[in-house]
Amino acid sequence: MRILVCGGAGYIGSHTCVTLAERGHQVVIADSGVNSSPRVMPRLQRLVGAPLSLHRVDLRDRTALDALFTAYRFDAVLHFAALKAVGDSCRRPLEYFDNNISGTIVLLRAMQDAGVHRLVFSSSATVYGEPAQVPVREDAGLQVTNPYGRTKLVAEQLIGDLCQADPAFRAANLRYFNPVGAHASGLIGEDPAGEPNNLMPYICQVAVGQRERLRIFGDDYPTIDGTGVRDYIHVVDLARAHVDALEYMVRADRSFTVNLGTGRGVSVLELVHAFERACGRRIPYEIVGRRPGDAAAVYADPTLAQQLLGWQAEHDVDAMCRDAWRWQAMNPQGYRSTTRRATPPRLRRSRAVGARLADAY
Ligand code: UFG
Repeated sequence: MRILVCGGAGYIGSHTCVTLAERGHQVVIADSGVNSSPRVMPRLQRLVGAPLSLHRVDLRDRTALDALFTAYRFDAVLHFAALKAVGDSCRRPLEYFDNNISGTIVLLRAMQDAGVHRLVFSSSATVYGEPAQVPVREDAGLQVTNPYGRTKLVAEQLIGDLCQADPAFRAANLRYFNPVGAHASGLIGEDPAGEPNNLMPYICQVAVGQRERLRIFGDDYPTIDGTGVRDYIHVVDLARAHVDALEYMVRADRSFTVNLGTGRGVSVLELVHAFERACGRRIPYEIVGRRPGDAAAVYADPTLAQQLLGWQAEHDVDAMCRDAWRWQAMNPQGYRSTTRRATPPRLRRSRAVGARLADAY
């Protein structure tokens, strides 16, 4: 299939592009560049062994989207393009509503007008809020506690309404738990701008010496060691789930919503210790107060994904830490790093429409 990957230059999108290409699909990336680097492209091309085109497109720009849909006959769209920082969303709710919700509406309209009616949507376990019980199943109550979460819930709902209204439209809502890790090559990985909001990239930056110590938000939760418990999932397993979901959606010709997690809860301290084993260094930390809005324990019941897609996570926490550390050690400054292995090969110019990030080199 020929797939439009919106947000394909970002962390999860870029890993999914590799898996799509490995499975024989043709990938075209649209990315606004707001939270991604064009330097991912030569690395991606090296991994997939073929040229990939990247178009600098903001999904709210209907004209640019239409040009893409006219230039290519897409079979499906994978939609990763969203702002995703919880705290930032509380400070800038309108920016989040506009980017995440308006962007999704414009994309859906462009898809409908172009006759493209298959969508895989990046949703989040954030739609469960503080779940009443764990492990969390897909039929658990939905509640959101911040503007970012609201954008994911609203997007899921409007995609659901479109599926009701348009008998041809099919969508897969994928509710991610906590994606971590990196491609085993160390060529692509998570590259947060500024101070990381999430645990794993923070640990990585402490391990590489960029930050002095980790602050652990609370050790008085009713969990195994008092620290928060989450369901960390290797990004390569997550990428495979997208392609499995896409292929299942086409094969079964149906819409669905699934959790993507391992089903195993891991505490902050357990993750810190696993990372110490992976990198052979001590991770200094201090215990501070709880972070407002954090739940004690959130982990998935991934049974439905197994039943529908035949998918389950394969990488354990040690593999997640090993791969996250390889990426961080090879690229201490993320995509701004210039290690020899990461030197971009000559980039083939994209032929297609829209501004070209490749031109930025
Ligand atoms: N934590 C720390 N110190 C840090 C960062 C995090 O102790 O510097 C703790 C948190 O308190 C929590 C755990 O590490 O117990 C995981 O925190 P993350 O911020 O990495 O992840 P969250 O589970 O809070 O949130 C993530 C995404 C959300 C998404 C949610 C879905 O950031 O966007 O998973 O479950 F909605």
